[in-house]
Amino acid sequence: MEFFIDTGMVDEIKEAAKWGIIDGVTTNPSLIAKSGRSQADVIKEICGIINGPISAEVISTDTEGMLKEAYEIAKWHENIVVKLPLTEAGIAACATLSKDKIKTNVTLCFSSNQALLAAKAGATYISPFLGRLDDIGHNGLQLIEEIRTVYDNYGFMTKILAASIRHPLHLRDCTLLGADVATMPYKVIESLYKHPLTDRGLDAFLSDHAKANS
Ligand code: E4P
Repeated sequence: MEFFIDTGMVDEIKEAAKWGIIDGVTTNPSLIAKSGRSQADVIKEICGIINGPISAEVISTDTEGMLKEAYEIAKWHENIVVKLPLTEAGIAACATLSKDKIKTNVTLCFSSNQALLAAKAGATYISPFLGRLDDIGHNGLQLIEEIRTVYDNYGFMTKILAASIRHPLHLRDCTLLGADVATMPYKVIESLYKHPLTDRGLDAFLSDHAKANS
């Protein structure tokens, strides 16, 4: 499974890069807004930190506008993935970009039928939003399971990029269900390292070693 970090904060990406396990980055207009910087500045800087897929989202709502933005964004770096919303306009833009060999990430996916549309349009990634489904009392993980089945049934190569991951259990279940990628906030990735038995065991090893060598 690939790990992407979901943030527009360059400092977090620099810290996470030190872990040696980050394969790519996703952003969205809300995350970029939190940085207080322009998308172009943030994304170009990220491309210099992580050598992997970097998603940058369009803000146009019509196909023509999305394509204009996409061709501009794609020029910033060879690792750019153009993020498009799962709307009629977004899927049409995705189909055109796929033919032009520009990588795409279709975002705001909340049903397996939507995921099927993205795959048919040749999307590189589909982003089902787990946490936001859970927030309204639906089952986000069931969506991952359904998309995995649909893509496997028909041999679609679009990668399932599990998004809106809020806690370690989401990740664990996504790995069991066969999501290809998980994008997670810095704090969620950081929390994956933690286990009280690891801390307790290490304390015991170090204290035994110190006693034996005193
Ligand atoms: C993914 O690409 C999105 O940026 C993100 O995962 C959304 O997460 P949220 O629902 O916690 O905002």
